[in-house]
Amino acid sequence: MKDEIFKAGFPTEIMQEGKVKVLVPKLRAFVTSPSEYAPSKAPVFYNPVMELNRDIAVLALQAYQRTLNREISACEPLAGCGFRGIRFAVEVEGVKNVVINDINVKAFQLASYNVQMNGLSERVSVENEDANFLLSSYGAPRKRFDAIDIDPFGSPVPYLDSSVRALRNGGLLALTATDMAPLCGVHPKACIRKYGGKPLRTEYCHELAVRLLAGCLAMTAAKYDISISILFSHSTSHYIRLYATIKHGAKKADENIRNMGYIYHCFKCFHRELAKGLFLTNGSGKCSECGSKINVAGPLWLGKIFDRRFCELMEKETNQRTFKHIKKILKISGLIKNEVEAPITYYVLDKLCDALTLPVPPVRRVVEALRERGFQAFLTHFNSRGVRSNASAIEMKELLREILGSSGKF
Ligand SMILES: C[S@@+](CC[C@H](N)C(=O)[O-])C[C@H]1O[C@@H](n2cnc3c(N)ncnc32)[C@H](O)[C@@H]1O
Ligand SMILES: [Zn+2]
Repeated sequence: MKDEIFKAGFPTEIMQEGKVKVLVPKLRAFVTSPSEYAPSKAPVFYNPVMELNRDIAVLALQAYQRTLNREISACEPLAGCGFRGIRFAVEVEGVKNVVINDINVKAFQLASYNVQMNGLSERVSVENEDANFLLSSYGAPRKRFDAIDIDPFGSPVPYLDSSVRALRNGGLLALTATDMAPLCGVHPKACIRKYGGKPLRTEYCHELAVRLLAGCLAMTAAKYDISISILFSHSTSHYIRLYATIKHGAKKADENIRNMGYIYHCFKCFHRELAKGLFLTNGSGKCSECGSKINVAGPLWLGKIFDRRFCELMEKETNQRTFKHIKKILKISGLIKNEVEAPITYYVLDKLCDALTLPVPPVRRVVEALRERGFQAFLTHFNSRGVRSNASAIEMKELLREILGSSGKF
């Protein structure tokens, strides 16, 4: 079978990521102008831009496997040409078997060919089902997976229930969401409908997006007396990613719900406040700093969205690899490691300085100045001009005026 030539019926080419080579649609053949989005034009979905997403998925799965220190099973129910699932089988030590699946028959055929081409037929099976149907068939005890990676078009929400049920106690769930317009508040109704929480178009909307997805997952899992712990999350280009483990038990699921809450935001003075709990108590509707109308995001997850130990494990794994995007991955994980314990939400200097009609100082200068004055201050991977701090919006603005006043410039 290895030498058999696969007739896809459309233009293809071999691409390499990590240690794996697979046959993918030749994207150039499906567009007539550079402005067209090639991945969605091809008969089988393949997006080279998501290599970084897949690299990090490999690292996270390896880090997770190290914590268990035994052989694991994995499932990629929305697999496209199969790059991700095949990479799990080849690049993650301790992966015993992988089930990859796609509803598109052409994707199924291409993924099947890629599995054979990589000599993985014994360990990787390929299915052609609806993802929820497939996951439901693995929902019974002892049939469940150790890890499931949901990488869909748009929102992963339609697959949360079946994923949680098809995961073993302690299992790892990885989620991609590319529906950033709802999650970042451009289409708030769609976000409320899908995620059960209100988004806000703030400068830290990408963090809100992660927290809305995490909140939705926590509430979905809670229905089955299951709790979640977020090990890692990141926001990169047009998507967010979340890595969570689940634990069976009603008590922990109750405790989990205590991590749900709201973030109040004032668009006038940048003041923010957190309110824990699922049920909003009657507020004044006004900003406690400037009296303007206050806006609210949520309910969403106010618990941790990164875990220090897991970040360190991932970093250790990164240093052993030769990925194309290694520098970018180390930069992201380095920033995340430092924001693990930092306050929720961040200030974006451009926004503050715009309001103050001041030039934007270097972000590291602001971090130093905050620390010199006894405040906490952390950079964030969410935004290169973002600063997490326990300083209030008023204190931040005072500090910016001071920095710019004291030196004449910065
Ligand atoms: C974003 S692509 C997957 C990319 C892939 N995970 C990767 O890393 O390269 C989403 C895939 O989901 C498949 N799909 C859409 N709806 C599905 C469903 N209900 N069940 C199974 N697969 C589905 C599409 O055919 C498409 O290949
Ligand atoms: Zn205000």
